[in-house]
Amino acid sequence: MNVRTINQLNLADKRVLIRVDFNVPMDKYGQVTDDTRIQAALPTIRMAADQGARVILVSHLGRPKGKVVPEMSLEPAAKRLSIVMGREVGFVPDCIGEPAEKAVAAMKPGDVIMLENIRFHPEEEKNDDAFGAKLAALCDVYVNDAFATAHRAHASNVAITNHVSEKAAGLLMKEEIDYFEKAFVAPARPLVAIFGGAKVSGKIDAIRNVLGKVDKIIIGGAMANTFIAAHGYPTGSSFLEADMVDMAKEVIAVTSARKLKLYLPVDFLVADKFDSTAETRVVPLKEIPEGWSAVDIGPASQMLFKEILWDAKTIVWNGPMGAFEIPPFAGGTNALVNALATSPAVTIVGGGDSGKALKNTGLTGKMSYVSTGGGAFLELLEGKQLPGLVALEG
Ligand code: 3PG
Repeated sequence: MNVRTINQLNLADKRVLIRVDFNVPMDKYGQVTDDTRIQAALPTIRMAADQGARVILVSHLGRPKGKVVPEMSLEPAAKRLSIVMGREVGFVPDCIGEPAEKAVAAMKPGDVIMLENIRFHPEEEKNDDAFGAKLAALCDVYVNDAFATAHRAHASNVAITNHVSEKAAGLLMKEEIDYFEKAFVAPARPLVAIFGGAKVSGKIDAIRNVLGKVDKIIIGGAMANTFIAAHGYPTGSSFLEADMVDMAKEVIAVTSARKLKLYLPVDFLVADKFDSTAETRVVPLKEIPEGWSAVDIGPASQMLFKEILWDAKTIVWNGPMGAFEIPPFAGGTNALVNALATSPAVTIVGGGDSGKALKNTGLTGKMSYVSTGGGAFLELLEGKQLPGLVALEG
C-alpha cells in the first residue's frame, strides 16, 4: 500500500494529531485494568514528542452512542499514559470547539495532550465530513496508530484524512500490518491457522478466506461443535449454531476437495453444567452424551494439535479452545498457548479472548506478535480492506 509512516515525516514544532485506540478496560472505580493498548501506542507518541511535535491524542472508549457518558471519559487513560510515560499529559474535556482549540494553542513543542472521548459526538461514527474538518483544523499532521479501530469508517480515521495536508501511519499500525503480511504474503511454510471461540457465524468469512492460503487449519472451541454436527455426530447440550451446519459442511467439502488438512478435536471435556462446580468427563469425538456440553478440547486433542504444530513455520491463532474463563475448562486453551510458546515458528495471535488467555498463562511475551485488534484483525483475516488504512493512502 502507498502509505507513509510517521518516521518518514519531519514533525518538529508541528501540531501532530495521533488517532490512538485507548479503548481499554476499566473497573468500577475508573481505573484502567489493562494498559496493553496504551503501552502499544507509546513508541509513536514518544517519537513525535521527542522530535518536538505538539502531540494531540484522540481516541474513543466504549460505545457511548454519541452522548456524554461520564463513566466513558478518557481521563483515566490520560492519567495512565502520564504514569507510563513519566511525564505530564494534559487532558482536555472535549475533542473539538473552544476547549480543544485553546488547549492546542497553548501547547509547547514536546507537549502531549489527550482529548475527551471522540464518540461523545454522534458525528464521529457517522464519519461526518464537517466534523472531520474540525478535527483536522487542530493539527498540521495526522497520524493514525489505532489499528484496532481501522475496520471502522469513522470521522477520526477516515473523514479527517480529507482535510489534512500530511498523513501517515503510526509505528503500531505499521507493525500490525507488517506481521499480518508476514503470515499471509509469502509466509514461511507450513502455515497453520487455528480458529476457536464460540461462533462459526462470526468467523466463517475468515475461515473461508484463509482456506486458499494456509497448509493446515485447526478448529477448536465451541465452534467445533457445529463442525461435529456437520459430520453427523451427536453434540448433546453443547452450544451449537444449527443454521451454520450447512456452512460447516461446505468448508469440510472444500478442504477435502483441495486436500487441505482440516483438523477438529478428537475428544472433548464435557460438563453437566456451565460453571466450575460442574461434573466433568472426557469423551471421544463421537460420544458427547445427551444432556452434557462440550466445554473444552480433551487431552488427546491437545496432543494432536501440538503434533500438528510441530513442523509449522508460521502459526496464526484466533480464539480459545474452550470456555477458558472458567478455570476447570481452561486446560485445552492453556495447552495450545504452551505449544505456541515453545514453537520456533512465527506465532501471530489476534482477538481479545486469545489475548486474555495469553495473559492468564503469563506467556504473552513468548509470542512473535500479539495483535491489539479484535474486529480489525478478524477483518484482515476475512481478506477485507480496512477503511482506516485505505484512508491513509496517497
Ligand atoms: C475494539 O476494541 O475492538 C476497538 O476499539 C473498536 O471498538 P468498537 O468495536 O466499539 O468499534
